[in-house]
Amino acid sequence: MASVRVLLLLLAAASAVQLSIGAAAEAAAVPTLGLDNGLGGRPPMGWNSWNHFACNISEDLIRDTIDSLVETGLAEIGYNYVNIDDCWQAKARDSKGNLVADPETFPSGIKALSDYAHSKGLKLGVYSDAGYYTCQRRPGSLGFEMQDAVKFAEWEVDYLKYDNCFNDLSKPELRYPVMRDALLSVDRAIFFSMCEWGVDQPATWASKVGNSWRTTGDIRDSWYSMVAITDQNEPWWPYAGPGGWNDPDMLEVGNGGMTTAEYRAHFSLWALMKSPLLIGCDITNMTEDTKSILMNKEVIDINQDSLGVQGHRVLKSGSGGLLEVWAGPLSGNRTVVALWNRGVWGATISADLELLGFEAGSELTARDVWKHEDVSKPVTGSISADVPSHDVAMYILREAVKVDANAENAESFARFEDVRKVRAGRASSV
Ligand SMILES: *[C@@H]1O[C@H](CO)[C@@H](O)[C@H](O)[C@H]1NC(C)=O
Ligand SMILES: *[C@@H]1O[C@H](CO)[C@@H](O)[C@H](O)[C@H]1NC(C)=O
Ligand SMILES: *[C@@H]1O[C@H](CO)[C@@H](O)[C@H](O)[C@H]1NC(C)=O
Repeated sequence: MASVRVLLLLLAAASAVQLSIGAAAEAAAVPTLGLDNGLGGRPPMGWNSWNHFACNISEDLIRDTIDSLVETGLAEIGYNYVNIDDCWQAKARDSKGNLVADPETFPSGIKALSDYAHSKGLKLGVYSDAGYYTCQRRPGSLGFEMQDAVKFAEWEVDYLKYDNCFNDLSKPELRYPVMRDALLSVDRAIFFSMCEWGVDQPATWASKVGNSWRTTGDIRDSWYSMVAITDQNEPWWPYAGPGGWNDPDMLEVGNGGMTTAEYRAHFSLWALMKSPLLIGCDITNMTEDTKSILMNKEVIDINQDSLGVQGHRVLKSGSGGLLEVWAGPLSGNRTVVALWNRGVWGATISADLELLGFEAGSELTARDVWKHEDVSKPVTGSISADVPSHDVAMYILREAVKVDANAENAESFARFEDVRKVRAGRASSV
């Protein structure tokens, strides 16, 4: 615990200087024990209605989205949660105090949609709030946690996003465990996504409360919002791991407010930060650019890697420190590195291999996960790329020795067990 604190202080103090990723990988073995509901071994992937549709949702939209997830191939590559955000509820509870679906927009009810999602091999998520009302003034779950959890289980819901509007001003540390306990008491495993906007630094206490916790306020579909949110999420990297993830909010890729380069950077960073990959655009109408980003399997694999260690910033360079290097360890002795140009001009960005934790004289192979090709020459000394403004280049590095696949699995497994042990020793008080 103390070492994590010290490390965070160091990280905060050292954001402009070089950090050794070797030390970083060790510190990352001190995250927290995830909520023990069997879910969230990898960051969740799927779609959520809010970023594109806000309150304009209906059961037809959800069905069309389920169909599109399957038709486009998004489902097949892992996007399996279909999450309905705010506004699915009727304006009031029924006479017995039950939540009910809005009879105008969701006349068939939630169970019909979860049946439909399940029939296509997908999972269904809903939304509620740890307050008297949701943010859009539908009934909240505060005081109704047990009754609502029972209802969600009866509807065979798989995921709950739990917001923080109109609360009673008590701490989220008190309110969120009540719903956690209610969900654990019903006969269904429901992913618990805490959306308490980063209040009271949930990374430090939520590991046994949620499978993910928001570290920031809401994202908007702009470069400035995406950058600010990335910076806010970054320092919490040591606390992420299998079972519990930092959540810098849902993806804006495909919504039109950023350039293709900016969306590529957005998606790369979310993948490297082991963030939930919840698509927020209209997937029934995606451009080819949008598809090529969201469906980049090599980038998705970085996010879903078995090690589950969140990557982070290791270097700011160039004038204004706008040329950034982000990196993190992957299973099989591999390392992911992203060269991110936050400046307004194209630039060459370089990362010293020693800075990335490799020994001097190492000879590496590099895979360019956006060009989908191996870098032709062995990498020695440093890796660098010409990166256009706001764009990113991302590579997977590994020592140029043959890796035995069984050794790789054994190593990943041992690493996972380490994380579990350390987490078990850090049982949270809430
Ligand atoms: C969508 O919802 C927002 C508010 O949630 C509203 O301002 C907007 O007019 C709606 N758009 C459509 C097309 O209904
Ligand atoms: C589909 O997306 C394009 C932009 O790529 C937009 O102009 C068009 O209105 C969208 N169509 C629908 C039905 O939303
Ligand atoms: C990872 O590296 C260590 C030390 O360099 C080595 O002992 C181990 O076999 C490697 N694992 C794999 C899967 O290459």
